[in-house]
Order: sequence, then structure tokens, then C-alpha cells
Amino acid sequence: VKRIKYDLTCLTSEAIGPTGLSTEDIEGARERLEHAVEYLAELGTAHEPNFMHMPDEAVADIQLRAAQLQSRFETMVVLGIGGSSLGARAAIEGLIRRRSGRFVDGTPCSGLRVQFIENVDASDLLDLLETVDLETTVFNVVTKSGNTIETMSAFLIIRERLINAFGMDGYRERVICTTDPTRGALRGVIAKDELEAWDVPPGVGGRFSVMSPVGLIPIAAAGVDIEAFLRGAARALASAVDRNVLENPAALFALTQTLLYERGRTQVVFMPYATSLFALGQWFAQLWAESLGKLRYLGDETPHHVGPTPIAALGATDQHSLLQLFMEGDDVRNIVFVEVGDTPDAPSVPSTRSLCEPIVHLGGKSLDEIRSAELCGVREGLVEHARPSSTFTLDRLDAEYVGGLMMTLMCSTVVAGSLFDVNPFDQPGVELGKRFAHGLLGRDKERHYASQIHERIAARRTWIVTV
Ligand code: PA5
Repeated sequence: VKRIKYDLTCLTSEAIGPTGLSTEDIEGARERLEHAVEYLAELGTAHEPNFMHMPDEAVADIQLRAAQLQSRFETMVVLGIGGSSLGARAAIEGLIRRRSGRFVDGTPCSGLRVQFIENVDASDLLDLLETVDLETTVFNVVTKSGNTIETMSAFLIIRERLINAFGMDGYRERVICTTDPTRGALRGVIAKDELEAWDVPPGVGGRFSVMSPVGLIPIAAAGVDIEAFLRGAARALASAVDRNVLENPAALFALTQTLLYERGRTQVVFMPYATSLFALGQWFAQLWAESLGKLRYLGDETPHHVGPTPIAALGATDQHSLLQLFMEGDDVRNIVFVEVGDTPDAPSVPSTRSLCEPIVHLGGKSLDEIRSAELCGVREGLVEHARPSSTFTLDRLDAEYVGGLMMTLMCSTVVAGSLFDVNPFDQPGVELGKRFAHGLLGRDKERHYASQIHERIAARRTWIVTV
């Protein structure tokens, strides 16, 4: 059985002294945690499908469609942003080597090469259009609201190119859409252009949607075994609702993060020691920030701002960058490491006795051994500075483990939402920015925002200097 380990040792006071969490701290919050897990479990049995409902019936359809796409196309370009791209990118980049297109364990992968257009950036889109072969590329437009500026702008530009190059039928063949079943501008285009469409279940929010067609279509098209991915997720789900909360990794992760936050450790660094998992850190950062960074109004109508700041880092790369700050800088963070098992055929450093004496000890060591020593060294350095850390360990980097870790972190986010007393499923701050941008770009219903913004800018004394 593939089990993800979550090791909290190095955030306890036993390991790092009084800045750590004691058994009493954790035991003392047990009841609070039990309520939060109860809420999560209730969500799992809710009538309307949410992120905890596995898309069982859709899986076979998605696999079939992925196989058809693989036999017709070479590349898939996902047009999506935030929750509509980060989950798929985390899983695909986590499991497939970027350059060779093989799986991270070295086995061949026969899937499509999946690329992402997320940002609104002319140069990035031009770069794509200059390099991709439109003949063998399928575009997957993913937007739950169907109105997102970045995604829809890129889509409409590509739509025009495809129609010009291939006519309506050729365009239709090269586009699939994933969006809300009834609402949004993309639904209108789907109806008019008669495009292939997949539904995002209304109860599944963007950043929680990786186990829906939003994530599963690109992940399956890339050649990843989505049954294994969902199997890992289902196991993680069962463990996340375990009422024995002190044995429940998702619950303990949420609780320890909350307790550390309450003691002034307002930042959490997510630091996998595997290049391929950097995107997973970016996905986690969005999940944690957008779900937990909230403005709360308590009984007295006083606004309270809460929310831990997630930081995506990469071991060992960031040992040569951010780590100095983590070790000796302001003491406001805790580090979450992700350790992965050995890579098949990991190369070893050749013995170099006569060539380079100061690093002779590296001779004969595999890169995996070196990586483990680096991680262990950093963790112990943090212990020496009385700074808390914890570690998720995946014995292998495969679909089941990655699905399991992603589901664990999604469940943790919901539990943390209860502990922070915020709604983890909304994002009013993001929506405000979207409304302002639509107003500035001239949409009628937000036009008043544009005049307010222009007035505010005009009234401001500017302070600009030049080099
Ligand atoms: O998690 C979220 O809800 C957001 O990050 C959205 O996914 C993001 O804003 C994109 O929205 P949409 O899927 O509607 O294009």
C-alpha cells in the first residue's frame, strides 16, 4: 500500500525547544480540530458534488477522449489560469520529465506534450504561435466562470487564427472547452460554434478542481494514469475524514499550521526536494492563499485580516537563495519539505581522488543520496536555529502518490478554513480585481468602477523618479 508519510517531529518543542508545539498545545486543540474534520466529512456526503466527490462515471469517457486526442495530435495547449491550470500543471510537471517527455521514473510516456498559456502576455502567446504546429495541436480552453479575461482573450485570438487556417470544421476539431454547464461567455461560444464541451460541476471551485475534467482531461491527455491518480486521492480522502484526528495527516497539517500562525509564524514555505514538484508548490501557494487569506467581520463589525502567506521554494536550489533568510532572517515562517524516494538509475558521482581532493567524499554517491543529505542538513540547521519544519515523504513519484498528496492538501485547506474561521471556497478579493479590470476595459456593468479609478488616479499626487 502506498502511504504518504507526514513527519511533524521537527516542529515539536521536544525537537526544537519552546518555539515548537508541545503535545499539550496539540492535545489542547483536539476538540477544535474534531469539529473541523466533522465539517469536512459532512462536505464529503453533501448532495451537490464538490471536490470530495470522485468523478467516477466521467473517468472512462475522459480516458477514451484522451486516447483519441493522442492518436490525432502531438500537443495540447491549455488556456486557463489559477485554479483552471495550476492543478493540471502541478500533476503533469510533477510526473513527466520536461525535456525528454518520459515519466520521472524514466519509463516512456506516450501522451501529448501539454503546454500552458496562463498569463496575459503578448510575447508568451506569440512565442507559442511561432513554435507550435497548429496542424497537430489541440487547444483546451478551461474556465469555470467562462468570462476570465486572460483565458478568453487568448482563446478569441487563437479561435480567429484557427478559423483562418483551417475553416470552421478544422477549428472545431482543434478546440475542447471545460466550463460551467450553463453560465458564462464561453458557454455562448460553445453553443454558437458547436464546440466540444466538458462540465465543471458547479459545486467544485477552481482551485479545488484538479480531480474534475478541469485537471483530468489534460492530465490524461499527457499520458498519466488518471485511475491511479484518483485512487491515491480516494485513499487520502478516507484518511482526511478519520475522526481519530491525531492520526490524520490532513488534519494535523492544518492544525499545526494554524497553531504556528497564531504564534506569529505567518508564512509557510512549501519546499519539495524534486525539481518536478516546483509547480506543485505553486499550486499549493494558490490553494492556501486564495482559500485562507480573508477579511473577516466579527460580531463588532471590526474587520480582521487573516491568512498565512505561502511561499513556493525548491530544494536544493533555494539553499543557494532563500534559505539564508529562512535560517537567520525574521522568525516568522515554518518550512514544509516534500521528500521523494529514489530515482531508478540515479547517476552517481564518479570517484575523483586525483582530480578534486576537497570533494573527494562525493565520489560514489548517487544524486539521490546527495539530495537526501542536503535535505537532512537543512532540516537540522533549522532545528539548530529553533525553527519549525515538517516533511511529507512520497516513496515514489507516481500518479497515485501525487493524487494522494494533492487531495491531502485540499482537505487540509478546508480543515484550516474551519480553524481560521473563514470560508475557504470564496475569493472576494480576486473577484474585486476582476471587476475593476472589466470596468477599465469598458464593460457596461462595471463602468462606474472605471470612473472611480480614473478620478482616484487624477486626484493622487504622483511621485515618479527616473534613472
Ligand atoms: O480558484 C479559483 O477560483 C480561481 O483561481 C480561478 O480558478 C481563476 O480565477 C480562474 O477562474 P476561471 O476558472 O473562472 O477562469
